Amino acid sequence: TRAAQVLVASNRGPVSYARAEDGSLTARRGGGGLVSGLSAIGADAGSVWVCAALSDDDRAAAEAAGGRLDPADTGGQSVRMLDIDPAVFAGAYNGIANSVLWFVHHLLYATPLEPVFNQDFRAQWASYESYNAAFADALAEEAAEGSAVLVQDYHLTLTPRLLRERRPDLRIGHFSHTPWAPPDYFRLLPDDVAAEVLLGILGADRAAFLTRRWADAFTACCADLLGAEVTTDGAESAVRHDGRTTRIGVHGLGADAEFLRERAHRPDVNERLAALREQIGRDRKVIVRVDRTELSKNIVRGLMAYERLLATHPEWHGRVVHVAFAYPSRHDLAVYRDYTATVQRLAEEVNSRYGTVDWQPLILHVRDDFARSLAAYRLADVALVNPIRDGMNLVAKEVPVVSDGGCALVLSREAGAFAELGDDSITVNPYDVEATARALHEGLTMPDGERAMRSKRLAAAATALPPQRWFLDQLAALGG
Ligand code: G6P
Repeated sequence: TRAAQVLVASNRGPVSYARAEDGSLTARRGGGGLVSGLSAIGADAGSVWVCAALSDDDRAAAEAAGGRLDPADTGGQSVRMLDIDPAVFAGAYNGIANSVLWFVHHLLYATPLEPVFNQDFRAQWASYESYNAAFADALAEEAAEGSAVLVQDYHLTLTPRLLRERRPDLRIGHFSHTPWAPPDYFRLLPDDVAAEVLLGILGADRAAFLTRRWADAFTACCADLLGAEVTTDGAESAVRHDGRTTRIGVHGLGADAEFLRERAHRPDVNERLAALREQIGRDRKVIVRVDRTELSKNIVRGLMAYERLLATHPEWHGRVVHVAFAYPSRHDLAVYRDYTATVQRLAEEVNSRYGTVDWQPLILHVRDDFARSLAAYRLADVALVNPIRDGMNLVAKEVPVVSDGGCALVLSREAGAFAELGDDSITVNPYDVEATARALHEGLTMPDGERAMRSKRLAAAATALPPQRWFLDQLAALGG
């Protein structure tokens, strides 16, 4: 089967499956920046996307199609879905990737109590190793001589090195869709684990990141923890360790303007737009946020800030509505379920404290609906994007592209997107609820002309590197 010229590997594939009421399996596209970016691969005959089955429904669908997905579900793309033992997958994905590496890179640990690295952690780490090895095996099997392999994200940090051991002929890239932790925080990890993660990625020819800030944090970790040598030559840097050199790249994934603008004017979006308008009411400003219900997205402080806005600026009562979509994510983890419950409770509190018979101050939806998100984008006067930390944040880039009247962007300085959008957004420290409330007020009161002008500039910056080019640039940089 060594036929593929270009391979992509990621935990999440382009679609995942769920049973419909009649028992049949239906494919759905998952959320998150990784899938949005990689949608650019397209149905090229020489490419294969290797991903993991995320559920029993995925396993059933992949098995039915002989380990590959039905091309009818993937738009013709060739996708190999790995059937990894459920316990191994849980240890690797829920345990190490989402409860340890995600937490470290987003600075989410509250250190006196968390993390605790004990025997459970060691068992999960062993799962993570075998999960990474399963990807390396599959890629080694699929890749034609000398082909390019693009390994994605924190789930697969060990794969580049393991793949190089199996197939030294391949050109291997690794891409991180998350921030990278600074050395003082990365050192929370047990020493051997921290080293393995870095060495795993250094097994690639090139390691790339969404912003310079995350790339620099990675090279700083390599220098501090491994004693590696970091060189810079103009915009390109590199890490030398153990006689090998890994080049470091930066590719700031942008929004796909053409796709979004077309998609945002289809009938299903128009329908939801009309329904939302009705629910919001006439002559009211709209503050929009759309996120996975994700700890790092800082939804709770965002709702607190909206509450502070209403508390400190009664003139907005009846004149503003906050539309907040918080879509389900990682519900196998108790902290995510608890977080979702907190978001729902806060929303109810705001509505019961301030709502009146003809004004619902906050509209919260927790069920995923892409068309409805686009409808909300179109209505946005202000977009609120306040993550604690974020690799990029595509919502910040998408709203200015889609909004009908131009939007003001309240943006956390800790989002990767800030590097590209900072000049025309209203900057916030994501921990400062009072400052976030003031920023919302500033967004709501921004003069129309200024808002439209800034929104235009934001949209231009946001679409500078659309997914197609983001992907091709990485391939080109791997050479061949
Ligand atoms: C982030 C990660 C991606 C992940 C996405 C959705 O964007 O960088 O790797 O796919 O979140 O999370 P999930 O756990 O549902 O795949």
